[in-house]
Amino acid sequence: MIITVYPIQKKGEKMVDANHKYDVYMKKGKLKFTPNMPDYDKAYKGFKWEDHYKELDWAPGKPLNVAHVAVERHALGPNANKTALIYVGENTEQRLTYKELHLLSNKFANVLKKYGIKKGDRVFLFISRVPAVYVAFLGILKAGAVASTLFGAFGPQAVKDRVGDAEGIMVITNATLKDRVDAVRPEMPALKHVLVVGAKEQMPGTISYEKEMEAASNKFTMEQTQPEDPCFMLYTSGTTGHPKGVIHAHMAILQEYMTSKWVLDLRPEDIYWCTADHGWVTGIAYGILGPLAVGTTILLYEGRFSADAWYSTLQKYKITVWYTAPTAIRMLMKEGKDITKKYDFSTLRSIYSVGEPLNPEAIREGLDMFGLPFHDTWWQTETGAMMITNYPCMDIRFGSMGKPFPGLAAGIIDDNGKELGPNEEGNLALRPGWPAMMRTIWKNKEKYDSYFKNGWYTAGDKAWKDKDGYFWFIGRADDVIKTSGERVGPFEVESALIDHPAVAEAGVIGKPDPVRGEIIKAFITLKKGFAPSDKLKEEIQQFVKKRMAAHAFPREIDFVDSLPKTRSGKIMRRVLKAKELGQPIGDTSTLEND
Ligand code: PRX
Repeated sequence: MIITVYPIQKKGEKMVDANHKYDVYMKKGKLKFTPNMPDYDKAYKGFKWEDHYKELDWAPGKPLNVAHVAVERHALGPNANKTALIYVGENTEQRLTYKELHLLSNKFANVLKKYGIKKGDRVFLFISRVPAVYVAFLGILKAGAVASTLFGAFGPQAVKDRVGDAEGIMVITNATLKDRVDAVRPEMPALKHVLVVGAKEQMPGTISYEKEMEAASNKFTMEQTQPEDPCFMLYTSGTTGHPKGVIHAHMAILQEYMTSKWVLDLRPEDIYWCTADHGWVTGIAYGILGPLAVGTTILLYEGRFSADAWYSTLQKYKITVWYTAPTAIRMLMKEGKDITKKYDFSTLRSIYSVGEPLNPEAIREGLDMFGLPFHDTWWQTETGAMMITNYPCMDIRFGSMGKPFPGLAAGIIDDNGKELGPNEEGNLALRPGWPAMMRTIWKNKEKYDSYFKNGWYTAGDKAWKDKDGYFWFIGRADDVIKTSGERVGPFEVESALIDHPAVAEAGVIGKPDPVRGEIIKAFITLKKGFAPSDKLKEEIQQFVKKRMAAHAFPREIDFVDSLPKTRSGKIMRRVLKAKELGQPIGDTSTLEND
């Protein structure tokens, strides 16, 4: 099945060694279908975004509302009674057609209007994976408001850092997560309403979703938003400071739709499962908007991860297209290949991965487990949609992120913005102006501007390009941590750590981990009167988990006497990381306490 072009990489080896060796999965003769994009080079050459406007039922000069593209036009056309959503809960299953989703989201838009939500207001979703997410998200867009989502593992501090910063007017949550909003509600003066979904009875100080939905009309005239109006906003982490609110415009749907069609190869008859949570950008762009725009059937799985539960879901619901992440793939691999023999995955047509490096081993094992290669896709919260990807029609070079989507130009540049040639390592960059590109960062133009230099958008990733135009990921250029594919800023974790009464100072790094990609590791100095102990470690971990986020706590903590700092007092994470990995420390001329 695999054509080995060069010697095969072995488990534990670097993604690609200095001689750039790789395996190739050739598609020729193996594809049992004609992809929506049958020829990459041809599509890339002749591509113009404007040739696809019509597919969105939109033309320049007209208003554009994503909710029209994603649900209304299907509900008013021949797809009205087609299933949009299959929800698989713990003990329940629910299906919604496009028409039902349209009418329910109309109702929700009316509820928002009743509570005074207007165009441009920020409305947050802090809720588990239930159908109300789709109803509310689309309802928010119909009302012209800006939808924002929060990961369910966030603690009160993380909620406050985001909702507070965005001056969110409403939070939509459920009975279990509501306490975390309540804990910081006095610190979010702009927050007027907390709407609770699925509570047995109305909770004091909140609006009941069920009660309001029952009373609301299912007729609603959608806000006539413009393509450049804000549509959704997502907080994401960088090296420094608190997370920033990345704002996307309605126009992003063009790229979300096109990539759903040409990368994920979605068609209306598919049953598609995206395992990403709606608290992250993948869960929005490819868990909600792109696939709905194509008119496909989305599976929404609420449960937790287990190999058996996931394999049963793939089999039972006859999933045809599956979008997941490397950590999940590696966790499945850990369970062994034998268990996959119990299941029938014959309905699967194409499988995809995102969020962190997809190691060649995962593609190789994926081939054994599913009979299909995982297609890697590279993009970011800021890019709003897929940028560099592997396509059903294109051979896969194991370990490569693939090639830029048609209509996009990517390059590798040095620190001065000069474009580098093949096989040279540098900064991954893109020519600005793609449809899904973030339009601004909430109240932080300076941060927004910092992405753009010398006519390029710089992604913050190190990468290289081979002579045939395939891009290869090397690592982050900054201190951003990717743990289980989830983006965590070290500053946020450090801030949470120093709030603990025993902690004087903290430095946080990402430490390579064979399953999670990276784990969070903290180096801590203690205040006078506190002594290192395992009990204290555990207590500090629980403290961060509860306050900040259950997924973003340090799995490893080292107590140290001092931390490496610059003369101006900044903790040098780079030095901590190099020491941890046994690598050369590099330039320490600015180090204070070497
Ligand atoms: O470092 C890259 C990594 O994830 C970062 C973006 O994270 P986030 O905004 O959370 O979006 C993730 C989902 C779209 C990137 O700067 N990353 C993303 N995809 C890949 C990746 N690293 C390696 N390979 C990928 N395919």
